[in-house]
Amino acid sequence: MILPTARSADHAYSPVPGMPVVRQATPADDAFIDDLHAIAFGPGRFARTAFRVRERYPIDPSLSLVAESDGTPCGSVWMTPISIGGINGWMLGPLATHPDFRKRGAGKLLAREVTRRAMERGDGRFVVLIGDQDYYCPLGYTPTTPGNIIWPGPVDPNRVLLHSDDPLLAIRIAGPVSAWGARQPD
Ligand SMILES: CC(C)(COP(=O)(O)OP(=O)(O)OC[C@H]1O[C@@H](n2cnc3c(N)ncnc32)[C@H](O)[C@@H]1OP(=O)(O)O)[C@@H](O)C(=O)NCCC(=O)NCCS
Repeated sequence: MILPTARSADHAYSPVPGMPVVRQATPADDAFIDDLHAIAFGPGRFARTAFRVRERYPIDPSLSLVAESDGTPCGSVWMTPISIGGINGWMLGPLATHPDFRKRGAGKLLAREVTRRAMERGDGRFVVLIGDQDYYCPLGYTPTTPGNIIWPGPVDPNRVLLHSDDPLLAIRIAGPVSAWGARQPD
């Protein structure tokens, strides 16, 4: 069941009816987000490699965003602070839009906005994700060198995509996914 969220001080009003808008999630959104993940990813979500990363390293609640359409929550994205090869950054995901609200731009809005907010902080150098190139490459993500990033489970290397202000980082970054602040292994 998708539960409506109480309006918060951060509530963003859309100038155009139905057009999704984004705001920071609050604890009142937890039930909506849980339900959305179950609908979008099913029981298999707990076996996903990205889930294993989030089990080890907690998400950053200040980068947990919700999309709304006319005041109704319709999408969500999370970010997990991590490091790879001694470089700090974030893993984006899960990104999901409720099936009743898809193809209205909520997913891309969430992905763009959470990437912008993370990079604007200036203390992390990349956002990495496991996702479809066709969806994320037009949003500024590029493929990484297959096999360079070591995940705590199986991944399709062609789906490991990275956003950075450094155009070479996607090709060069290498190492295990570690905790934010972890030093590069010798
Ligand atoms: C993927 C998802 C977040 C897209 O949400 P959305 O709000 O519908 O996205 P947008 O409205 O911004 O974009 C929709 C467009 O992306 C396309 N699209 C959706 N999923 C895509 C995919 N995996 N690969 C390529 N294109 C995709 C749609 O066909 C649509 O194209 P159109 O604009 O030409 O009609 C949503 O379908 C979802 O929750 N899926 C299940 C969970 C999931 O797969 N999450 C992504 C994990 S990486």
